[in-house]
Amino acid sequence: MTATIIDGKAFAATVREKVAAHVARIKDAAGITPGLAVVLVGEDPASQVYVRSKGKQTVEAGMASFEHKLDADTDEATLLALIAQLNADPTVHGILVQLPLPAHLDSDLVINSIDPAKDVDGFHISNVGLLGTGQKAMVPCTPLGCLMLLRHQHGSLSGLNAVVIGRSNIVGKPMAMLLLGDSCTVTVAHSRTKDLPAVVRQADIVIAAVGRPEMVPGDWIKPGATVIDVGINRVEGEGGKTRLVGDVDFASAVEVAGAITPVPGGVGPMTIACLLANTVTACCRANGLEEPEGLTA
Ligand code: GUN
Repeated sequence: MTATIIDGKAFAATVREKVAAHVARIKDAAGITPGLAVVLVGEDPASQVYVRSKGKQTVEAGMASFEHKLDADTDEATLLALIAQLNADPTVHGILVQLPLPAHLDSDLVINSIDPAKDVDGFHISNVGLLGTGQKAMVPCTPLGCLMLLRHQHGSLSGLNAVVIGRSNIVGKPMAMLLLGDSCTVTVAHSRTKDLPAVVRQADIVIAAVGRPEMVPGDWIKPGATVIDVGINRVEGEGGKTRLVGDVDFASAVEVAGAITPVPGGVGPMTIACLLANTVTACCRANGLEEPEGLTA
């Protein structure tokens, strides 16, 4: 059997279209333009690429994009003052501070200074608590994107066994909460898990989010399972060229799985699409407007 390849690139395009359509409706009905502020501290090349891409896609969806680039040696007080200013700005509905921050800045303190209603990353402790207790939260973008792909693939996820490999605050933990919210039986596996292959073989849904290239081989996968590969790892390929691979060994897994996301072109494009979705959702909540359908958890 060869798995269905889940086309995250195409699905992300449909999410962006839904966002753009809702933005147009909000502009028409209420005269409000949703706005996203992105704060980048320092010159990390990968972060610069992400921030540029976020800004471009924000504008393409009809929203306002505000970019704030600060020097790598910016002190905490200056950054917190900028966040306070964005919190108070009614034209800004979403705030994202690009991570990682330079080592001298306390990421937790910075993230928790963002107004939770504008925390489109869903990293503020209030949003983590709301998600964990099944209340209306801002939901982290990558797990939200994975959930959308899974719902699209399966319809209902109720009663399915899901194994999340990785326990990060950005992906693993919120992913587990979202899957619980959709009535999956959830196992969170990590580096200390005993007999990981046996754990993964129980899963109808596998979410791989560890950041280790091709660590999940096909013979760990239950035949017919859905595999969502969150990994984006740069490895040296033939002729010294770098290539992107996931946390799953795609070549062997595609022969066993029922459906699988490729890398690139799977989960990756969903992250920014969900950031745009969260921004329009935050704008609607802030202004008492109807939220877009199918773009939240
Ligand atoms: N750096 C890598 N991924 C992310 C993300 O999802 N949000 C933020 N703010 N920074 C990141």
